[in-house]
Amino acid sequence: MRRKIIAGNWKMNKTPSEGVNLINELKPLVKDADVEVVVCPTFVCLPAVVEATRGTNIKVGAQNIHWADNGAFTGEISGEMLKEVGVEYVIIGHSERRRYFAETDATINSRLKAALKYGLKPIVCVGELLIERENELTNSVLKRQTTLALKDISSEDMNNIVIAYEPVWAIGTGRTASVEDANDACKFIRSVIASLYNEEIAQNVRIQYGGSVKPSNANELFNTSDIDGGLIGGASLTASDFVGIVKY
Ligand code: 13P
Repeated sequence: MRRKIIAGNWKMNKTPSEGVNLINELKPLVKDADVEVVVCPTFVCLPAVVEATRGTNIKVGAQNIHWADNGAFTGEISGEMLKEVGVEYVIIGHSERRRYFAETDATINSRLKAALKYGLKPIVCVGELLIERENELTNSVLKRQTTLALKDISSEDMNNIVIAYEPVWAIGTGRTASVEDANDACKFIRSVIASLYNEEIAQNVRIQYGGSVKPSNANELFNTSDIDGGLIGGASLTASDFVGIVKY
């Protein structure tokens, strides 16, 4: 039985004090949640947010990780740094990274390996562009992104990896994928994982949906066969909306 995981991707929002305020609002509201609850603030917020979540059921993730242990990579953050700060999860390959920062399937694979090396749990993002969906390329894009992200990743490591299916056209647009399309895509990703590994690993891996998830649509999205929770952008920035999703 896969435990649902609901993660807030704060993107480039919230200062450290604003982040702590949000955690303090969330704490009592999510303390009895059945699902795993994660928040992913910016790097500068991480120490304060890790401190604010100590002793609670809220886990903390970063939004990126570099593949090198250290060195001349201005603006990047290493696994060792994230680990020391107390981070548990890390988002890898978000479509905004692919689109605005030239992230590729190969760099995503390198970042994934670094996360695993440092004992961080990766949330690996895949998803098609609108034009790809319109040209019926969704499955081939998902197959390519999933296969290349997981290149040379062992079966054991698959236990710690979460996949997030985020159709790019549904992110921040208010346009959610239909429940059926979202579930079909997650099911397809699971079948790709079954062909790369085996059916047991595929059945155990958690696959989130992300893209305009709101309290009003979370219930139908998460009550499907293959969607194991959500990666939430805009609606993770206010306690009431995020709690509405966590308690779908
Ligand atoms: P929105 O929920 O704002 O559409 O963002 C989704 C997302 O990109 C989460 O990583």
